[in-house]
Amino acid sequence: MTDDFFARLPKAELHLHIEGTLEPEMMVALAARNRVSIPFRSVEQVRAAYRFTDLQSFLDIYYAGADVLRTEDDFHDLALAYFDRAAADGVVHAEIFFDPQTHIHRGIPMQVVIEGLFAAIDTARERHGMTVELILSYLRHLDEEDAFATLKAAEPWLDRIIGVGLDSSEVGHPPAKFARVFAASRERGLKLCAHAGEEGPPAYIHEALDVLRVDRIDHGNRALEDPALVARLAREAMTLTVCPLSNVALRNVARIEDHPIDRMLDRGLRATVHSDDPAYFGGYIAENFRAVAQARGLSREQVVTLARNSFLSAFLSDEALAGHL
Ligand code: ADE
Ligand code: ZN
Repeated sequence: MTDDFFARLPKAELHLHIEGTLEPEMMVALAARNRVSIPFRSVEQVRAAYRFTDLQSFLDIYYAGADVLRTEDDFHDLALAYFDRAAADGVVHAEIFFDPQTHIHRGIPMQVVIEGLFAAIDTARERHGMTVELILSYLRHLDEEDAFATLKAAEPWLDRIIGVGLDSSEVGHPPAKFARVFAASRERGLKLCAHAGEEGPPAYIHEALDVLRVDRIDHGNRALEDPALVARLAREAMTLTVCPLSNVALRNVARIEDHPIDRMLDRGLRATVHSDDPAYFGGYIAENFRAVAQARGLSREQVVTLARNSFLSAFLSDEALAGHL
């Protein structure tokens, strides 16, 4: 399989944080445009800081980087640059996370964030024929009351938001902490996702299923430690949106050669491959496919299954799904 094969293979991106597509070049440019000071003098210095030891060491830099995003144009430019890259990577449909609390807590109104993203989404449709949905992700290191305030602040745009997610520091912030706001989100017709089992234990995946009643699990790698959980996930055809280069960068997997993606498929799990925070982890979705396929010696059939799973796992209408399969 050539590099071109991975880039041409049509796929849906289901696990991507738009703030995680902020390339060092854009970080430096937006810092200058908005006169924001960042602790780096050059693009090289920014890149040199991207050596992570765990999730938190990444999140500290990721939240600091997001501080350069100030205006509707900034969110538009960030997202459009991502959609252009994604189109070149064979992405025909994307369901992207955004973290409103990261911005609201810095005094950037929800409207600035969402209108900037919507404008870019409209251009992506015209320019690439790409369909894009937004997933509002709650920050789990904050309390549930803050998540409720975020849901309320998003009220005017909820008819154009497909779902909610749960991200940020996992250990010590179990899914059950957000039981009520997930129930309220479901009542508003939103789909539900949660990061679980990235660093947290298998018990967090059980909670995401039983307490939050999620439609998709983001990451889910640690399910492999619990055979009964694996059997359940397989039986329920529950998607795990897996991010190989992220797993290596955050040291959840020692080397890409050790990645469990094929073990997941062999155990009947509906795994998909995505890019998480590609500007920080060294590659967009086609590179995640290529790297893990090459390192694990995946067959063409396995790679096609991963791409097909991305459409089966997307929040698409039956009609739109049929058009992609
Ligand atoms: N926010 C952005 N990327 C994340 C990740 N991989 N895990 C948890 N929260 C995140
Ligand atoms: Zn993520």
